[in-house]
Amino acid sequence: MMNKLFQKAFDMRQYSHVPHSNFRVGAALLTNNGIIIGGCNIESDSYGLTICAERNAIFTAYAQGYRQFQALTVTSTSQSTPCGACRQIIAELCGNIPVYTCDTEGNSLSFQAYDLLPNHFSLQEPLSLENIHPHENII
Ligand code: THU
Repeated sequence: MMNKLFQKAFDMRQYSHVPHSNFRVGAALLTNNGIIIGGCNIESDSYGLTICAERNAIFTAYAQGYRQFQALTVTSTSQSTPCGACRQIIAELCGNIPVYTCDTEGNSLSFQAYDLLPNHFSLQEPLSLENIHPHENII
C-alpha cells in the first residue's frame, strides 16, 4: 500500500502548474478505508495564491467527504518537508498521521504530523498539559 501511495504522489507531479518555480510537487493521501487521493502544486501569477501539493490533496479529500486518514506522502526532486502552512493543515485536518517525504530517486524520510508542528492552532482543543511550560511573570 505504501508503494502505491508513493507512486501516486510521484504521478501527481505531472499535473503541477509551476510556471514560476518549475518545482513540481506531488502528494498522496491515504484514507482510513484505503482510498488514495492525489494533489499537486498549482501556482498563480499572484504568487502568494499558490497552493501546495499537500493542501491540494487534503482539501480535495475533504471535498469528497473523507475525514479519516492513515498517511500522507509528498514527492519532489528534493526531500523537502511540508511548508509551515501545510503543517498546520495536516495536523488540523488529518491529525497525527505519518508524513513521508520522498525524492524522485526514491529516498524517503518519515515524520509524525504533530512533530512537524507541535501545538498546532485549534479553536477547539486546549493544549495538552505536557506541552505547556509555565514561566515566571516577568513584570
Ligand atoms: N510547495 C509545495 O507544493 N509543497 C511544499 O511543501 C512546499 C512548496 C510548492 C509551492 C510552489 O509551487 C513551489 O513548491 C515552490 O515553492
